[in-house]
Amino acid sequence: MTVQQIIDTTPKAELHVHIEGTLEPEMLFTIAERNAVALPYASAAALREAYNFSNLQDFLDLYYAGVNALQQVEDFDDLAWAYLQRARQDNIRHVEFFFDPQAHLDRGIEPTVFMGGFITACARAREQGLQVQMIMCFLRHLSEADAFATLEVMEPHLGDIIGVGLDSSEVGHPPEKFARVFDAARNMGLHLVAHAGEEGPPEYVWQALDVLGVERIDHGNRALEDAALVSRLASEGVPLTVCPLSNLKLCVVDNLREHPLRMMLEHGLMATVNSDDPAYFGGYLNDNFHAVAHALELGDGHITTLIDNSFRAAF
Ligand code: ADE
Ligand code: ZN
Repeated sequence: MTVQQIIDTTPKAELHVHIEGTLEPEMLFTIAERNAVALPYASAAALREAYNFSNLQDFLDLYYAGVNALQQVEDFDDLAWAYLQRARQDNIRHVEFFFDPQAHLDRGIEPTVFMGGFITACARAREQGLQVQMIMCFLRHLSEADAFATLEVMEPHLGDIIGVGLDSSEVGHPPEKFARVFDAARNMGLHLVAHAGEEGPPEYVWQALDVLGVERIDHGNRALEDAALVSRLASEGVPLTVCPLSNLKLCVVDNLREHPLRMMLEHGLMATVNSDDPAYFGGYLNDNFHAVAHALELGDGHITTLIDNSFRAAF
């Protein structure tokens, strides 16, 4: 089998995908029309043309604007269902997807609305044999108090959620800001993950490990700038959920040939490949594998290790 065939045919797990980041422009237009929400673009094609980002914040501004169209149970169901069907095409067997409760709560959308939609879509996907779990992320640009209020309002739904994460604008919002919220989540029996080292410095990865006590690091690219941190991640086998096309689109790397994924594997880090926000970054999971395998000239061994890691790192 060629590397391409191995990528396409091997069962995989996806551990870093924001469900709101799977909102394709065509679906956004359909949902916006259903909810009588005006969009500042003439068509799905025109919106797609606007997907040129210089950094994370550029992307987040459009991502939160898209999220505003989601209002009813059906919208959240359609969104999650479309992604879960797309995941099956890529031979994904296990998904742990992120969602951003604050992006909905802050607009007056009740937890029963977004959770109701997600839960029905997940239930149908499970009937088809896909394993699906949900992780709720705190928006790090908001306050610790807002994160605590979110944990409280989401408490009745925690039976449907396996963990908490930390996402949104990284620089200026270090993990330590959420130390007490993560302690509370741990005491509730939730798994812990955090985005760190996407744009933020290695110090944020240290904090995610030592202050928050996370079990996986989402991204972790900039960990490679710190040899002691690399040793720590390798010796403890901390998984990194790496997102190559996201890194390219958000200018974390200038070119996929400079992507650190191969170096991560060479340092013995438990790297995995993921799609992050595939509707915005030009590709789903297999597209990420193909692009990075080509750019870094990865062989069969690298691909099998990355895919094995995706299951070993899963909760
Ligand atoms: N929210 C959605 N995608 C994100 C990313 N790549 N980094 C931080 N926050 C996000
Ligand atoms: Zn992410």
